[in-house]
Amino acid sequence: MITKPKGTYDIYNDDAKYYNYIMDVFKTIANYYNYNYIRTPIFEATELFHRSVGETSDIVSKETYDFKDRGDRSITLRPEGTAGVVRSFIENKMYGEVNQPIKLYYAGTMYRYERPQAGRYRELTQFGVEVLGSDSPLMDAEVISFAYRALEEIGIENMIVKINTLGDAESRENYRNALIKYLEPHLDDLCSDCKNRFKTNPLRILDCKVDKESTILKNAPEILDYLNEESSKRFEKVLEYLMNLDIDYEVDSSIVRGLDYYSNTVFEIVADLPELGNASTLAGGGCYNNLVENLGGPKTPCVGFATGIDRLIILLKEQNKEELKDNLDVYIMAVNEEERITSLKLAQDLRWCEIKTEMDTLNRGLKAQFKIADRLNARLLVILNSEDLKKGLITVKDNLTKEEVKIDENEIIDYIVSNL
Ligand code: HAM
Repeated sequence: MITKPKGTYDIYNDDAKYYNYIMDVFKTIANYYNYNYIRTPIFEATELFHRSVGETSDIVSKETYDFKDRGDRSITLRPEGTAGVVRSFIENKMYGEVNQPIKLYYAGTMYRYERPQAGRYRELTQFGVEVLGSDSPLMDAEVISFAYRALEEIGIENMIVKINTLGDAESRENYRNALIKYLEPHLDDLCSDCKNRFKTNPLRILDCKVDKESTILKNAPEILDYLNEESSKRFEKVLEYLMNLDIDYEVDSSIVRGLDYYSNTVFEIVADLPELGNASTLAGGGCYNNLVENLGGPKTPCVGFATGIDRLIILLKEQNKEELKDNLDVYIMAVNEEERITSLKLAQDLRWCEIKTEMDTLNRGLKAQFKIADRLNARLLVILNSEDLKKGLITVKDNLTKEEVKIDENEIIDYIVSNL
């Protein structure tokens, strides 16, 4: 038997219901917040991710799926969605459009060669938004509000926004120097990855999963003490707006994010949920004011977030949401050919009246059809009977009230519509 690749899974049955439900909620909210849909390719030139997510990030250095195509081009399966959106923004000259800022949302699979565990996959699905062309702290607050309220809407409880700022370039440079000075004498006590990070990108050390609990990192200088006035004021504005929006947040200076493109506000939404173990981060994002320029476009401030749909499916399944259980409006029962012909036509008519309808196609006996209708949670049973059909009558049984009536076949659709 050929099995699925490690770190992937099939979405079907309940998972499929939760998946569609979550996507529908996010798309509806994207419309309320006035974001437009964008779809970019699942594979892009490898260089795009090296220049955006960053050579020194774990994602690019250890986790990408890279291959040469038949034309000997270096291709990478996208590990995240921001880089592709920015590439598209530049390539399609969206910066020249009249309606600025450009507000986009996307949903799709991403690929990271991670060690699979609960809530951590090699093929993952993200929903994300990117706003290109606004540097206002209002925009940061809008994006955080979108993420937070959407997660709330799908039913996630006990969440908190962990927020930090990486400041502007000057603040980051000051902080970087202070961090290097502080960490240098402790280098021998850090893991081998961190020793490399020290040379390439010392801020990344704060994000280390191995050294997370070490006192060296706990006592490290904090970025908030190295912000210049402008960065500090901007961050305070974002916090003020979040307070005003009644969003539960906590300033956490250890949030530096695992991708290199961030500046100013960075945030993660974390749920207090044991079932997700160390995969409890539901969404992450922030500002990336230099990425468009680094990829060859005009200087454009941006902000966005992405959430992991697979983790949300796990959480919703735990909650066993009532409204997502199987249910059917009508089940039509027929046992002979004449009844089956009527059943096929009636099912078509009902479905086109937006009524969720099922009928038997396996020649089951009546008893078995009652059983299956129960299992499907059918509200109304339409019981066809040749004798009644000759008189132009159809029996309808209401599974809720247990009432059974015979209806004129010309009025059956109206009757069903008005009784659901
Ligand atoms: P990220 O933090 O790498 O950010 O991923 C966002 C979310 O995707 C995570 O919070 C998590 O829920 C989910 N996720 C990540 N890796 C996995 C995995 N292996 N399995 C399951 N879920 C996973 C980004 O990707 C940025 N592009 C977000 C962003 C958009 N920043 C600005 N705009």
